[in-house]
Amino acid sequence: MKTLYTILTLIPLACACGGGASDPDELLFDALSMPREPTVALDGFASAEQCGLCHEAHYREWSTSGHAYAMIDPVFRAFVAVRQEHYGGKQDMFCLQCHSPIGTRGGEIVPGFEFADLQPITLEGVTCESCHKVASLARPYNSGHLLDPDGPMRGTITAPAVSGAHESQFSPLHGDASFCAGCHDLREVSGLVLERPYGEWQGSPAAAAGVQCQGCHMPRYEGQAVAGGPARTLHRHAWIGAGIPLLEGFVTAEEEASLRAEVKRLLAGSARVDIMPAATSVRAGEVVDLLVTVENNISAHNFPTGSTFNRQAWIEVVVRDGAGRIVFATGTLDADGEPRGSSGAGPGAGEPLRLGSILVDARGEPVLFPWRATEHVSNALEPLGERVFRLRVPTTRAARGPLSAEARVLFRAFSPTALRALGLDEYVARLEIHEVSRDHTSVELRAP
Ligand code: HEC
Ligand code: HEC
Ligand code: HEC
Ligand code: HEC
Ligand code: HEC
Repeated sequence: MKTLYTILTLIPLACACGGGASDPDELLFDALSMPREPTVALDGFASAEQCGLCHEAHYREWSTSGHAYAMIDPVFRAFVAVRQEHYGGKQDMFCLQCHSPIGTRGGEIVPGFEFADLQPITLEGVTCESCHKVASLARPYNSGHLLDPDGPMRGTITAPAVSGAHESQFSPLHGDASFCAGCHDLREVSGLVLERPYGEWQGSPAAAAGVQCQGCHMPRYEGQAVAGGPARTLHRHAWIGAGIPLLEGFVTAEEEASLRAEVKRLLAGSARVDIMPAATSVRAGEVVDLLVTVENNISAHNFPTGSTFNRQAWIEVVVRDGAGRIVFATGTLDADGEPRGSSGAGPGAGEPLRLGSILVDARGEPVLFPWRATEHVSNALEPLGERVFRLRVPTTRAARGPLSAEARVLFRAFSPTALRALGLDEYVARLEIHEVSRDHTSVELRAP
């Protein structure tokens, strides 16, 4: 029998991101991504709109993506406001270094800054040139890119056509998973590892097969990079992930419908659930053992991945008797809209069967804010990994079968309670619960 419920603790790693200033009373600096003095000039960068004049499809796709939303995102802004207060603004550059590498390196993020005062290029978040002016990677986490605004436009076209707008240069880095790691792997100032899709990818079956992040998150298609240009294999710039922009008006209603459908498609089947009774027939009054197996279908990283402490992924199991009455449930929603545990004993009792992660403080209490956490406890499934939960469902002697049991893996981008705690109640209704996978079984009940 496999381990029923493994808890993986991400061991805090040493952090090279604090410039020695982990003392919260000191301003936090880092020569590369949180410099004392600006290392680039904001007016050295072009707005995405200008690129869109020639690269129309790339611009259209980017403008609905999380990258374009990174600085507008009300959830990000709410988190930043709490951290600003917590550190008196001394660590403001920390959260901004990846959400706006240009603004942070360009000197816009000063202690106590306000979003309303920022320049348009800073508010473009992860805009075209925050990726295409990357000259090299110094570390595969915490905004590890070196930006060179005066350099050529870098991408993976080996022999780019001459453009009147900019010089172009082939860059193998842009086709490599480590390029994404520069922003997608995140360590808190304390060293606590918060996000590590690249860390998970290293050593995964996808990595062994040479499949990079781009291979799934920037699907290929045939077309032209510019009108009238040569035929090319291009890469989608929509970066579909697990969430849609909660802020209304950021995308049109039509774009939102299409994004919701894309997110559903990405999530559907990214994990698989299987429910099976230990015995197909049980005497009424005895305990029914149900084996619930969940398997990560993604060969590249955990399910879930990224900001797993914000995301919710859990298993719902509902068992009904012959008359259709619910006799056991775990993972159904309580009055606050949060998944609840079962009332029985064993896994799923009290606490739901979570697949995400939680942040825990020194007293062992779950916390919402990463800077209060001393430990990151994850239940995520490893690439192609599986886990088995054994649920014990008590029956009464009067119970009549057959029992029918349904298991589902469910996913939601944020917890409603977390959004309410951040004062973002208005977005709760826009959250969607996605069914990732579903399975069903039944058990005969014999007379006692
Ligand atoms: C290493 C780069 C990096 C740093 C530093 C960083 N973030 Fe992020 N942040 C990301 C990435 C990448 C994502 C998307 C991850 C995902 O969706 O799984 C993200 C997503 C988020 C989200 C969820 C957004 C949504 O709408 O889904 C919030 C909230 C957030 N970050 C807040 C913060 C705060 C607060 C800080 C400072 C403590 C911070 N970030 C520092 C890279 C970073
Ligand atoms: C006047 C039109 C024009 C504008 C404006 C323009 N580009 Fe280009 N760009 C081109 C052409 C032409 C190519 C070459 C395409 C080809 O070879 O298929 C190109 C190629 C590229 C490449 C591929 C480089 C490589 O070697 O892989 C990238 C990346 C790129 N542009 C990004 C941008 C960004 C970002 C902006 C805005 C700052 C921008 N471009 C603005 C015309 C333009
Ligand atoms: C300059 C930093 C940066 C780079 C480089 C970067 N990202 Fe991101 N990415 C972010 C941030 C920040 C967010 C989250 C923005 C938000 O929602 O607030 C994000 C969001 C995403 C999302 C959406 C996540 C979700 O749940 O909706 C996907 C998918 C993604 N990135 C994939 C990639 C891939 C693949 C690469 C490499 C080709 C890459 N990113 C490179 C910073 C970056
Ligand atoms: C084999 C295809 C595949 C590859 C390769 C891949 N991903 Fe994913 N990724 C997925 C699928 C499927 C999901 C949706 C399920 C999930 O959220 O775990 C996803 C989700 C994500 C999300 C959204 C997570 C969230 O909940 O916010 C991010 C961010 C992400 N991937 C980043 C990366 C990065 C970075 C790499 C490279 C190191 C990468 N992915 C490689 C398939 C892939
Ligand atoms: C998060 C980083 C990121 C951002 C933001 C981004 N790109 Fe790209 N872009 C890439 C990567 C990575 C590739 C190459 C993908 C590969 O080869 O696997 C690419 C490829 C390209 C190419 C070459 C043709 C192709 O499709 O491969 C062009 C042109 C381009 N991008 C233009 C843009 C424009 C214009 C914007 C803004 C509207 C933009 N990009 C925003 C990462 C980014």
